[in-house]
Amino acid sequence: MNTHGATITGVGFCVPTGVLTNEDLEKLVDTSDEWIVQRTGMKRRHIVGPDGVTSDLAIPAARAALEAAGKKPQDVDCIICASATPDYLFPALACLVAARLGVPGKPAFDISIACSGFVYALTTAASLIRAGVYRSVLVVGAETLSKITDYTDRTTCVLFGDGAGAVLVERCAEDCFLGSDLGSDGSDPSVLYLPGGGSRFPYSRNGELSAQRLGYIKMQGQSVFKFAVNQMAASARAALAQAGLTTAEIDFVVPHQANLRIVDATLKMLGVPSHKCIVNIAEYGNTSAASIPLALAEALEKGMIAPRSVIVMVAFGGGLSWGSVVWRWQAAPVKKAQPLEPSPGAAPA
Ligand code: ACO
Repeated sequence: MNTHGATITGVGFCVPTGVLTNEDLEKLVDTSDEWIVQRTGMKRRHIVGPDGVTSDLAIPAARAALEAAGKKPQDVDCIICASATPDYLFPALACLVAARLGVPGKPAFDISIACSGFVYALTTAASLIRAGVYRSVLVVGAETLSKITDYTDRTTCVLFGDGAGAVLVERCAEDCFLGSDLGSDGSDPSVLYLPGGGSRFPYSRNGELSAQRLGYIKMQGQSVFKFAVNQMAASARAALAQAGLTTAEIDFVVPHQANLRIVDATLKMLGVPSHKCIVNIAEYGNTSAASIPLALAEALEKGMIAPRSVIVMVAFGGGLSWGSVVWRWQAAPVKKAQPLEPSPGAAPA
């Protein structure tokens, strides 16, 4: 039995000001607004400029979550970032966030599980709090997918955008973390992966990387689609079972915003009506680990989520991976932040 509970006390988010519309994409590849809307539900995505990096979004989102909660960086015991596009392979994005928040001594680490990252990170944060290890954990989902998107490949480039969302998770008498389900299947990485930059195709083999365009997301779209439709509903059901709840008791589903058709199919499989689903895919596209906290933040801004609501956050992504969290919502303010100006970063030695 847990002696501590976890609750979200503040939410922050940050999106780039640059916008990439379907009409812009029509000029880059052989596609159309009609095709993109019909197949994905997307109209626009927000993307950083050429010098923009993920920490430019992650740091303001993290600060905004703290300010929303009325807390100072010193109050945070641990920082966890979920990202497929950290500034560097190492140091972790979370270390950069901790340093810029002025708390460089804090434990800080990244979770690398692509679009499922936020639900993995939230589960980790809540578990650390429930176990009594920490009182306060800052969780950030942040991406600049535009940096690993191949704008010559119409089968992927229409899907991705940039953004960041953050939540402060704190110890609380009432436990709002009601259930979770996490899983993975790494048997065929090529279904959805970024081939370059790891030990198989390292950056030191730069010529090969660029000749084969290995620095970009590669995906077997239809396989991912089928996997997502089955796995999202199954995962949400497993997390609900752990929470001792039924689908009828869901107030809101906050799904990973990968494709409106995947979201619709998931709702149908769960028997949840669409008015209980938070969707902002038309504006942001797929922002991977940032997509759930961004959708949550915007729904809070609009006053859609009342205290005591049961929220199911459900994601799938590279791994392949999946994850769901069932959360009892308590009143938590939300704050929007502006991106940082691009900075030069660490100079090569
Ligand atoms: N514009 C116009 N035509 C296109 C485009 C485009 N942007 N992209 C593909 N097509 C064409 C194809 O070439 C194909 O043409 P053909 O019939 O002549 O061969 C046709 O459209 C149909 O292609 P499908 O792949 O069957 O289209 P589908 O309906 O499956 O939609 C999509 C493709 C949107 C990619 C869908 O499969 C999907 O959403 N999959 C899941 C993607 C996803 O969620 N990925 C997660 C990534 S997370 C991460 O990487 C961090």
